[in-house]
Amino acid sequence: MNGNDMEKRLKELIPGGAHTYSKGSDQFPANAPKVITHGKGVYIWDVDGNKYLDWCMGLYSVVLGHAYEPVVSRVRSQLEKGTNFQRPAIEELQLAEMLVDLVPCADMVKFAKNGSTVTTAAFKLSRAFTGREKIAICSDHPFFSYDDWFIGSTPCSEGITEYEKRLSLKFRYNDIDSVKKVFEEHKGQIAALIMEPMKFEEPRDGFLHKVGELCRENGTVYILDEMITGFRFPLGGAQKYFNVTPDLTTFGKAVANGFSMAFLGGKRKIMELGGIDPGKKKVFLVSTTHGAETHSLVAAMATIDEFRKHDVVGHIWDVGAQMIAKVTELIGQKGLSDYVKITGHNYLPLMLFKDRNGADSLDYKTLFMQEMIKRGILFQGLFVAAYQHTRAEIDTTLQAIAECLDVYKAAIEAGTLEGYLVGEAIKPVFRAVN
Ligand SMILES: Cc1ncc(COP(=O)(O)O)c(C=O)c1O
Repeated sequence: MNGNDMEKRLKELIPGGAHTYSKGSDQFPANAPKVITHGKGVYIWDVDGNKYLDWCMGLYSVVLGHAYEPVVSRVRSQLEKGTNFQRPAIEELQLAEMLVDLVPCADMVKFAKNGSTVTTAAFKLSRAFTGREKIAICSDHPFFSYDDWFIGSTPCSEGITEYEKRLSLKFRYNDIDSVKKVFEEHKGQIAALIMEPMKFEEPRDGFLHKVGELCRENGTVYILDEMITGFRFPLGGAQKYFNVTPDLTTFGKAVANGFSMAFLGGKRKIMELGGIDPGKKKVFLVSTTHGAETHSLVAAMATIDEFRKHDVVGHIWDVGAQMIAKVTELIGQKGLSDYVKITGHNYLPLMLFKDRNGADSLDYKTLFMQEMIKRGILFQGLFVAAYQHTRAEIDTTLQAIAECLDVYKAAIEAGTLEGYLVGEAIKPVFRAVN
């Protein structure tokens, strides 16, 4: 079976053909690799034998490199000792100690396998703590959970109750008036507010602190979701970097360099509601069979150790800075500044694509991705750097980008994608109809 046949079969066996929306075939051009066999460092290979330079890095979950030996070897030796027992494993204590030391707001932590589990848990705790039902979500941040409280607030809300949808309110990032408005319109009703500390835009005018104050004044739990920033900012996350202390926080993705690991952390007075002390009302917080598999916990400890040994974040930010500077230069040289941009913070540079009329265009983004893939580079709009991206990978990528921009320019000048784009354009993830 080749990649095309496998992709077809995957769709027959698995709804959506994958287990994360951004791995779906609707998110890639027709020439994208279909099924991956393995990865090493910052390269991945597909079932058809092609090798790709990877700028996606496992949905941000890999920050050191694929199959990064210092992590893998510790996982390997842990596997020899068993992965799951009827009582807590010693690794649960060891990692909890490390995390409460590192993360400013975390007096206590609770482990899970996925980010959605812990963001949902944060709201459950907040609702128990405040006795309120409504929640406020930052509308400029694309994803917080596959659970109903979040997906119910997007255009694809099939299967979600109207009641659930009404509980999720929205505010804008860096727009303190929009936060005040939500609090005024729903006075005394908001259990918790969630946002990422930053996505592409840095917090302005003390935004993170001001939101914290508003939460305090309104008796609302302040949650910072550090799923992505957590292990792409220096240890302790963006909350430490920006010196802001939320009530609860959620980490995941790169915590264990590709192994399944997420955690909820927060202030004791809220977190301990999830405890089992006699006489207190029971909040059934997070309880999953595989939530504390020892090898994932060891992978997290090994990842933290690598961050302590090497300036991982300094490196990936430097890669990001170089990409932003050099790609901006290339775009200018090609005369494409009205159509293509690279923006964002060094931790996560983002390319934006416009059509001939200057409107954001998924069609043109698809063309660019297609051309990058032709040149052996897997790119989904972001440069998700890892510790193992080096000068060589940056140079290869810049060379490819220069060539892709020529194709882009030709398509813009032709005024049509016909003859340029092969197959369908990618689609928005959140859409009412497939
Ligand atoms: C900011 C943020 N929060 C939460 C999640 C959910 O994490 P997971 O996919 O591990 O459930 C994601 C995943 O993309 C995310 O980007």
